[in-house]
Amino acid sequence: MDIEPGELTVGQLAERSGVAISALHFYERQNLIVSWRTSGNQRRYKRDTLRRVALIRIAQRVGVPLAEVAAILALLPDNRTPTRTDWERISECWQAELDKRILHLEQLRNDFKDCVGCGCLSLDRCALANPYDVLAAQGPGPRRLVDPAGEPCHPGSCR
Ligand code: FES
Repeated sequence: MDIEPGELTVGQLAERSGVAISALHFYERQNLIVSWRTSGNQRRYKRDTLRRVALIRIAQRVGVPLAEVAAILALLPDNRTPTRTDWERISECWQAELDKRILHLEQLRNDFKDCVGCGCLSLDRCALANPYDVLAAQGPGPRRLVDPAGEPCHPGSCR
């Protein structure tokens, strides 16, 4: 098996990343990572693919949709190994979206013991916090939580 320095086989990528080969193939079909084929039709990956896979796994772990991950990764250069500056740029681009996710997780952890203004009127506090569901006039969703509808990520605006 001919492997150039800085290249990984799919097995090596799987072993070092801790991600199953089938998952790596799935990431590739989703254009999250790219490979090329040797003359023997074997996949090869650039070593920096490990960093992309790490980002994908962490993002998945915190519930970021793969479409958002793909949009962010698409901002990295294809024709060379991304530099620290490239990674800093996409981190900054993603910061607002990730801050919003953190806020929502904190709300889930901290605020769901109280009335969230969702219209259920099922807690004793609802009569005070949302009497007769007056918050419905503001729109749908849990009105006492910020950004109840959520906004889509627009990583493309960072180009
Ligand atoms: S918790 Fe739903 S309206 Fe109060």
